[in-house]
Amino acid sequence: MIDKARIQENVFLGEMNSLAIAARARYFVSVTSLESLRQALDWAADKSVEPLILGGGSNLLFAGDYPGLVIRMAISRRCWEHIDGDEATLVLGAGENWHDVVMYAASAGYRGIENLALIPGTVGAAPVQNIGAYGAELRDTLLEVSALDRHTGQEISLTNSLCHFSYRDSVFKHEPGRYVITTVRLRLSRSRPFSLGYRDLADYFEGQDTRDLTPLDVANGVMAVRRRKLPDPAQLPNAGSFFKNPVVPLDTWHALQRTWPDIAGYPGDDSAKVAAAWLIDQCGWKGYRNGRVGVHNRQALVLVNHSGGSGGDVLALADRIRSDVEARFGIALEMEPGVVGTTPMH
Ligand code: EPU
Repeated sequence: MIDKARIQENVFLGEMNSLAIAARARYFVSVTSLESLRQALDWAADKSVEPLILGGGSNLLFAGDYPGLVIRMAISRRCWEHIDGDEATLVLGAGENWHDVVMYAASAGYRGIENLALIPGTVGAAPVQNIGAYGAELRDTLLEVSALDRHTGQEISLTNSLCHFSYRDSVFKHEPGRYVITTVRLRLSRSRPFSLGYRDLADYFEGQDTRDLTPLDVANGVMAVRRRKLPDPAQLPNAGSFFKNPVVPLDTWHALQRTWPDIAGYPGDDSAKVAAAWLIDQCGWKGYRNGRVGVHNRQALVLVNHSGGSGGDVLALADRIRSDVEARFGIALEMEPGVVGTTPMH
């Protein structure tokens, strides 16, 4: 059984979620190993309280205080395996900071995750929503995930295909609460081609001879591009894109284009992703501020907490945006962050 002294009570979570919502956890523990994770889960089961696994807190919204046990994943590990010619496997503990890992791999000359620089959050959270940016997704390099299967109590290994990755989606979302990711293995390469086709990135490197670029140059380029549009959560609390880009059938996309010729999106072979930012922007929300919360003035997809906004304030704003977009374009936006915590404690 976990040492009771390590379980804290009534812990402030404001600094542990990137929207800086001033929620509290009834119980809280930080775990640094598989063993202490197991013990924390047992403790929660014993107490009949629900556990909540917390990574960097950058993809969740506290609607209120959390009435159960918040387990903060702090398993750290960074090592290389199977170095074979140009390729190598980077083994990472779930508690590692994602951006630090990107810079670590890029500095070592390994390619594959440089486009994912500056994405807030931890390694363990990255596979849950298959993080992606600038034409790259985690699934492009992920080899396998180790996770504690709460159905069996065993640590298992899920290969890339078993993770059922798609756009901002994975098995970890389909079966919420079942798996707790402990380790992630990425297969990186010193020679794979960079992915520089995404418009903002292509514009950034325009005129440069991209043949001489290192993964660190690309990561730095991505950081510069992101900083132009996306607010730093440390300065202006936010959870990144608040909505997913809706995926519509191609004929819907063409119909939308006929009505709004400059609509932004990413048509594929049999469906299209519509840029939710464009839809929200068209409804006039960009830069809107309602006292404590608002919509970022350079990227309409990002909701921000200017000062002391509650989870309820953010959700109310999200609802208004969603109804406007639905009324105007007939498209239902889906939220990206998970909503947790409802019971007020005070
Ligand atoms: N646009 C607007 N108004 C805005 C912002 C953008 O009209 O306020 C238009 C742009 O002109 C562009 C299009 O919308 O034509 C797409 O904008 P952007 O390139 O900024 O990308 P996005 O589709 O809005 C996605 C990801 C981001 C990721 C960027 C870059 C989702 C939900 N979001 O945004 O991910 O950084 O592409 O690859 O897929 C995140 O998940 O937290 C995140 C920031």
